[in-house]
Amino acid sequence: MAKFIPEDFIEEVRMQNDIVDVVSEYLVLKPSGKGFFALCPFHSEKTASFHVYPEKQIYHCFGCGIGGNVFSFIMAIENIGFVDAVKMLAERVGLHIPETYDSSKYDEIRAYNENLYNINTQAARYYHKILMSKEGQSALKYLKSRGLDMRTIKVFGLGFAPEGWDNIKNHLIAQGFEEELLIESGIIVEKDGNVYDRFRNRIMFPIINQSGYVVGFGGRVMDDSLPKYLNTSESPVFNKSRVLFGLNIAKKKRPLTNIIIVEGYMDVISLYRYGYHNVVASLGTALTSEQASLIRRYAGEAIIAYDGDTAGQQATLRGIEVLTKAGCDVKVAKFPDGLDPDDVLKEYGKDYFDKLLDRAVSAVDFKLDILRQDFDLTSEEGRVEYATEAAKILAEVDNILKRDVHIRRMEEITGFKAELIYRQIAMIKSKNNKTSVKRNDIGNNRHISVAISGKIESSQIAAERGLINLMAQNESIAREVLDRLGKYRFQLDIHQEIVDIIERILKTNKELNIAQIFNYVHDGKKIQQMVEIFNIQNEYDNMSKYIDDCINQLEEYRLKNELKDIQTRIAEMEKENSYDVEEHRLLLQKAQELSRRILVLERERRG
Ligand code: UTP
Ligand code: MN
Repeated sequence: MAKFIPEDFIEEVRMQNDIVDVVSEYLVLKPSGKGFFALCPFHSEKTASFHVYPEKQIYHCFGCGIGGNVFSFIMAIENIGFVDAVKMLAERVGLHIPETYDSSKYDEIRAYNENLYNINTQAARYYHKILMSKEGQSALKYLKSRGLDMRTIKVFGLGFAPEGWDNIKNHLIAQGFEEELLIESGIIVEKDGNVYDRFRNRIMFPIINQSGYVVGFGGRVMDDSLPKYLNTSESPVFNKSRVLFGLNIAKKKRPLTNIIIVEGYMDVISLYRYGYHNVVASLGTALTSEQASLIRRYAGEAIIAYDGDTAGQQATLRGIEVLTKAGCDVKVAKFPDGLDPDDVLKEYGKDYFDKLLDRAVSAVDFKLDILRQDFDLTSEEGRVEYATEAAKILAEVDNILKRDVHIRRMEEITGFKAELIYRQIAMIKSKNNKTSVKRNDIGNNRHISVAISGKIESSQIAAERGLINLMAQNESIAREVLDRLGKYRFQLDIHQEIVDIIERILKTNKELNIAQIFNYVHDGKKIQQMVEIFNIQNEYDNMSKYIDDCINQLEEYRLKNELKDIQTRIAEMEKENSYDVEEHRLLLQKAQELSRRILVLERERRG
């Protein structure tokens, strides 16, 4: 049987990790009336609708509806499970998971991964040592010929994998690592029963994740042979789509206003050499949404600085999409055809490079420029098609002043009057709005119903929620309400669940409050629903009258339901030819009694 982390411990972890402190390690929080707000890290937005409430120890985004407590925040932003979130926050404040928790499985995985990290770290040390030794002379010479100094080489931990099939294998086995684990780490390869070093005669670039662990390597040849770069295969600790080369270094310079994204390892390193410490690269693949979110976590603006060729342009267009979706403001630095950032620095120097960064264009400008290449603007047809496509791009620009600048430029390029372009954009926008509402209807049903619940929800649900909100924050109110409600079962499952939790807390000697309640919920969806419930403010002049009214209302509903049941039973009885006359009489009596009580409650509520 699996054991769980003791509730007391979870509470301790939660109490020691103030949500404002934790969130501010990820986001730039600005103070507002009741708490703090920031740009939501979970959806793309321009105006901050992500709120953190220190008093309730919860967060909520009014834009996308996501919310929760400090655990659910860590679960969402680190993309980990509840247990890992507890572990992480426990470690953050120096608490140790108690012995009673059966953590063997977790510890097993952790120990396993730890071993893989160790292997990579040891390998990186070995390769670096070789680079600095006699064996590495030619490699070091190569790196210097590419403009690198010793400091940069050290900062990135560059190394050299010597010629030969079993250098790293023998070195690591001598250190006590098992062969099987070495294969798993990707540092050695098994093929047809033979094992051998993956990297031979290559310059080694350790890939270090944002937590500072060496997760893999890129290895470059020193001549024109292929492949130019060889990378570690995916392993339990190395998922290419979740790592950015250079982020461990960029991260140290927080807070960052922007992050420059380049294509290659050498671009990152070369830029560092010239004083740019905010540079990252994906690992030879297109930028993924996970990588975009990572970037967004550390900086609000991303400058794409890909190679100046068609492949680079296509990669830039894709990059713009994923980065915008992740909530980044995107700019594009354009390089002369056929050159990458490293080449530009070498050939034209830092001043010129700075100029290119200064002249980085917005995502929209970039898209319009690319678009222009596809049309013959000297023909009428070409201008119509270009203007039509351009209007689609402009429809995505929210800032009307910025849009106006574009429209005037379009007027010049295409010859169409600004007014016409405006109308075309307006048409596209209204179409987009219609389709986006439809999409919401299907994909986000619950959310919509919550949003408009103010109108359609029954007064019963509102009364339930009103009581729950008060109960959740005050023990004596909770006890009183539970006492007075008696057998009432809450109509919404989520309401009943909260009430069950409140009852559980009341049986302990823990303090009853909203944050405490969240300690008992580990399901992301439920946490979100609860946050929405706790976020709706009760409105009343007199609290005890408000409580009375709510309770009466619920009692009224309960009685009405009971009455309905009895009436159905009576009707069914009467349909049959013979029935128990005595029972029939009792039911009638009961129905009258219920009607009377309902009437009293109704009068009380109105008067
Ligand atoms: P590039 O071919 O543009 O290399 O690949 P580069 O970064 O300019 O390297 P130098 O300047 O020639 O040394 C860009 C990135 O694509 C991945 C690597 O991550 C590389 O940094 N790549 C490239 C591979 O994974 N394998 C390859 O064979 C080539
Ligand atoms: Mn290059």
